[in-house]
Amino acid sequence: MTLALHERATACAKIILLGEHAVVHGQPAIAAGLPDALTLVAAPLPDRTAPVRVAIPAWDLDFTLAEVGTHPVARACGDVLAHCDGPLTGWRIDGATSIVARAGLGSSAAITCALARLVLGTDAPTDAVVDASMVGERVFHGTPSGIDSEVAARGGVIRFVRGEAVQPIALGKPLRLVVVPSGVARSTADQVAKVHRAIERWPVVARNLVETAGRIANAGQQCLERGEHDRFGELADMAHGVLCSLGVSSSTLDELCAVARRHGALGAKMTGAGGGGCIFAVVDGDTTALVDAFAARGLAPMRVEVST
Ligand code: PMV
Repeated sequence: MTLALHERATACAKIILLGEHAVVHGQPAIAAGLPDALTLVAAPLPDRTAPVRVAIPAWDLDFTLAEVGTHPVARACGDVLAHCDGPLTGWRIDGATSIVARAGLGSSAAITCALARLVLGTDAPTDAVVDASMVGERVFHGTPSGIDSEVAARGGVIRFVRGEAVQPIALGKPLRLVVVPSGVARSTADQVAKVHRAIERWPVVARNLVETAGRIANAGQQCLERGEHDRFGELADMAHGVLCSLGVSSSTLDELCAVARRHGALGAKMTGAGGGGCIFAVVDGDTTALVDAFAARGLAPMRVEVST
């Protein structure tokens, strides 16, 4: 067991650009990392026998590993530290973040990756960080595909297919997005279960939808590599329609996408598990009207530039 932690570690948040849910069923997905979205800083506690304490005020988190039986985030963090042979007592870990939690932006993968790096070091092999993150992700989400951990650990833009090596994608030019948190919380596991149910009830139809989402991800990858953002926007609209058909959008997310399109977006879709969480709009040129339209609804849109 390593009794020391490194002083500081970071991890990316993520935006799934195309292919969420379908990726659980073996289809490709494309995701972009948002660099340094979470920073964890470790300091020794005066009482070296006191359980590790984790505080991330922006996510309303403040717990100790004594709570692993009752607090799922404590359990996930305890499991990641144990997996990495890290200390379970004697440290305080404080987190600062630029993203909202439980909104499809990969907060759980960010915390588990950054925690793994506090033990293993910031230059630890990416695969080791991903493996450790997956231990925590299983506590949060049951049977995650692994895309969140891969992109939180690696950053950049990646193509992810379950069971295959991750492929980095080089963008033809930077992609500009406006990400809009709906403010509605949801459970990834419940959302994933909805797609399983759709496939059970409508095996041929729902499987076709899932395969279509995968084909959209393939086409979207080409658009991104060529810098064809207007065509990528059209595919984002189509992907949103497929996710609606699979039952994982919501009237709120549909409305937010419609607002984005009405205010000049090249396309818009939900991102992540859906049901709540975020949408993103693909944008070009002046985004003032679009951002103002969301701000007028009391929302906090984020301008994001994805580059590689
Ligand atoms: O938890 P979220 O919102 O980042 O969604 C994860 C992506 C899913 O495809 C819905 C689930 C998975 O395990 O890939």
